[in-house]
Amino acid sequence: MLLITNIQKLVQVEENPQQRVAGAEMGTLHCIDNAFLLVENGLIKDFGTMDNMPATAAGIEIVDAGGGMVFPSFCDSHTHLVYAGSREIEYIDKIRGLSYEEIARRGGGILNSSKLLHNTSEDELYEQALMRVNEITRSGTGAVEIKSGYGLNTTDELKMLRVIRRLKASTPLTIRATFLGAHAVPAEYKDRQRDYVDLIINEMIPQVAAEELADYIDVFCEQGFFTVEDTERVLMAGLNYGLRPKIHANQLAFSGGIQTGVKYDAVSVDHVDHTGPEEIDCLLHSETIPTLLPGSNFFLALPYPPARAMISAGLPVAIASNYNPGSSPAGDMKFMLSLACIQMKMTPEEAINAATINGACAMGLSDTHGSIARGKAANIFITKQIPSYEFMPYAFTTPLIHQVILNGKIIAAGQI
Ligand code: NIG
Repeated sequence: MLLITNIQKLVQVEENPQQRVAGAEMGTLHCIDNAFLLVENGLIKDFGTMDNMPATAAGIEIVDAGGGMVFPSFCDSHTHLVYAGSREIEYIDKIRGLSYEEIARRGGGILNSSKLLHNTSEDELYEQALMRVNEITRSGTGAVEIKSGYGLNTTDELKMLRVIRRLKASTPLTIRATFLGAHAVPAEYKDRQRDYVDLIINEMIPQVAAEELADYIDVFCEQGFFTVEDTERVLMAGLNYGLRPKIHANQLAFSGGIQTGVKYDAVSVDHVDHTGPEEIDCLLHSETIPTLLPGSNFFLALPYPPARAMISAGLPVAIASNYNPGSSPAGDMKFMLSLACIQMKMTPEEAINAATINGACAMGLSDTHGSIARGKAANIFITKQIPSYEFMPYAFTTPLIHQVILNGKIIAAGQI
């Protein structure tokens, strides 16, 4: 047992756990001041105010929060953090004025990462990804979704997914894997996009399913990448193998991706930078959660998705880091909170809900993650002394995390 005492504020407490919060509800964050938190067998057993703290007994490990706050770990529901090398040379191209699509058309972008990944062994890829997993663990993430999508042939897609499986087994993070064979059309299939989609359907999906390597299936449904028709074909094939969609939609244009995601009951539609009244209406009649990835809007200097319009209409929104080498080489969810607040005009309460319980929902993990609730995984972080929870997004480059606890175990600084 682990007893955390002297918590200035226990943030994001749920007495009656919900799957997600939507609309005006997103503006409320339940907290307990001057609190304790009790953990048993890796799960949250109890919490309350310090005056109601249980008597300490032999065998209970005490952690004094020292007046810091306790948050549930961030749930980062969209990343591509298994990749080889980096793409800072394209960053220079971007600074000089080339767009994301122009870089992609010149064979850069995803195809560039695909070449690098092809020439990297599975062990080396694992080591590189492990460093990023450790980095996000230190910055407060406790559950993360990771996609394939830089393989673009059967062998390399499987290589990526096996690396994700190794990360699941070897790290304390809760990890969900998504198969994203339809991330870009490889050069050898140029002008034969349909053949590449056939390869995904007839060869990749059956093998991914046979090895049980993925929880979800994704398609980059976007102008210049995969059409709505391609997307529907891939999603139908995935559903035949029990892979629920979770797709890239409307990042660069009104691509029809949001409607397609809803039609196939996607867990989430992600990016959604191009969202108008029709898309909002469609989402309102669904269980699909829109996931905003402000790191890419920041890095690509593109307009942000209309978070305010979505929340005002009654939608839930999640935010995620989109950690990847091309559009968001950053996995720090605290920074995503800051971007959500300053750039998308979300309140700190809305942003924290979006990065915790709604992020958990976008990975199908709300029953076990995303809030401080009895019976949920004891995935939390303790902050340094801070004046308020609003200070988290406000102090946007200050490291504020003092201690990370995952599944009830203290993650030693040396371990991460
Ligand atoms: O979500 N947009 C597609 N995929 C990633 C970018 C991948 C890359 O450029 O390497 C994204 O932004």
